[in-house]
Amino acid sequence: MPSRLAILGSTGSIGVNTLKVVDGHPKRFKVVALSAYTNIALLKEQIKRYQPAYVAAKASVLVQLKQEFCSLRIKFFDVEREAACLAGLREIDTVVLAMRGAGALAPFLEAVRAGKRVAAANKEALVIAGDLIMKEARKYKAVIIPIDSEQSAIFQCLDGQKAPVRRVHLTASGGPLQEVAARDFSKMTVKDILRHPRWQMGPKITVDSATLMNKGFEFIEAQRLFGLSFDQINILIHPQAIVHSMVEFSDGSILAQLGVTDMRLPIQYALTYPQRLDTGLKPLDLVQWQSLTFQKPNLKKFPALGLALEVAQKGGTLPCVLNAADEEAVDAFLKEKINFTSIYKVVEKVVRRHKIEKKPSLFDIYAADEWARQEARTILWR
Ligand SMILES: NC(=O)c1ccc[n+]([C@@H]2O[C@H](COP(=O)([O-])OP(=O)(O)OC[C@H]3O[C@@H](n4cnc5c(N)ncnc54)[C@H](OP(=O)(O)O)[C@@H]3O)[C@@H](O)[C@H]2O)c1
Repeated sequence: MPSRLAILGSTGSIGVNTLKVVDGHPKRFKVVALSAYTNIALLKEQIKRYQPAYVAAKASVLVQLKQEFCSLRIKFFDVEREAACLAGLREIDTVVLAMRGAGALAPFLEAVRAGKRVAAANKEALVIAGDLIMKEARKYKAVIIPIDSEQSAIFQCLDGQKAPVRRVHLTASGGPLQEVAARDFSKMTVKDILRHPRWQMGPKITVDSATLMNKGFEFIEAQRLFGLSFDQINILIHPQAIVHSMVEFSDGSILAQLGVTDMRLPIQYALTYPQRLDTGLKPLDLVQWQSLTFQKPNLKKFPALGLALEVAQKGGTLPCVLNAADEEAVDAFLKEKINFTSIYKVVEKVVRRHKIEKKPSLFDIYAADEWARQEARTILWR
């Protein structure tokens, strides 16, 4: 029986790579549901090719989709209000959470409550409500397998291990600005920032990789996914991006996961775990690299990472505020309304103004998200 997939965010960088994995093993997978936002051209191609029974997109593009595909028996949903309906469908075994942003929280919760396998690329939901998600996953026996390459590496290193974990070494390629002087950051254009040296990703995460905010989000994500304390995670800049992360056990042994920089590897692993299948990718040539280097991140040069670590320590509603403010500020940068260094300034202001709710309910999280977006917009458009 093929594994039946819902791919939420099928038109994004992770979504497209997920469909390439499906193409590599057509008998293993069946695409039952797809979702996008407004990229209707690509979504139409995907509908023709994979003939899903369920499709979600932004309400404004649904009319056109319904007209064009009226001969197929597709059930359509508004992705902003009803993405969770796709995640909980009985006909689905695995939900690939590849959509961008905090909107993934509702489908994430629905998927775990329905006891699905969740192949989770989306990090925003885990950052803002990771504790709630993990609690529900335990309750409903849902399996969450991370797609984010660093979290996938940690998951793989921990698999089958019983010894206590001393530390996790979370690696970071460092993004496009490692060799650029901090005084030149304000001159960086959107085009400069979107030129990541090692990974091909969507625009939001690529900007976060340049500020190193992304590593801060991954720090919080790792805390939630693996139940790690603040002191158990050590960030290392590793420009070659070959070692995707490492786990150090109580005896001092360190297990690492290495691989080529291609997201198809962790995506396929999340879909086929505990099996490993051929990916068709070129093998990693370690001789080519000569040396693999590791260094401490420079928090003075990349203050967004320092801010995220402070937020990780304080917890409560603060990670949610950090994420919401960052989504707003990065969006403004991508639309060329603010410069690169203003991203941090906006986010920091919002974080400093927030009154933390230490043990937030889901309601508190949504309220904090809304508050932070309003604050960020006020600062941005003043
Ligand atoms: N790319 C990577 O290598 C990578 C690695 C690790 C983790 N992640 C995480 O995976 C997630 C997706 O990243 P990505 O790089 O694939 O992003 P992306 O290329 O920007 O794609 C995002 C997907 O989400 C959809 N989307 C955008 N806004 C939406 C909204 N408001 N409601 C519902 N759907 C929406 C997009 O639809 P349209 O195309 O129609 O706009 C697209 O299908 C993010 O959380 C990211 O942090 C990505």
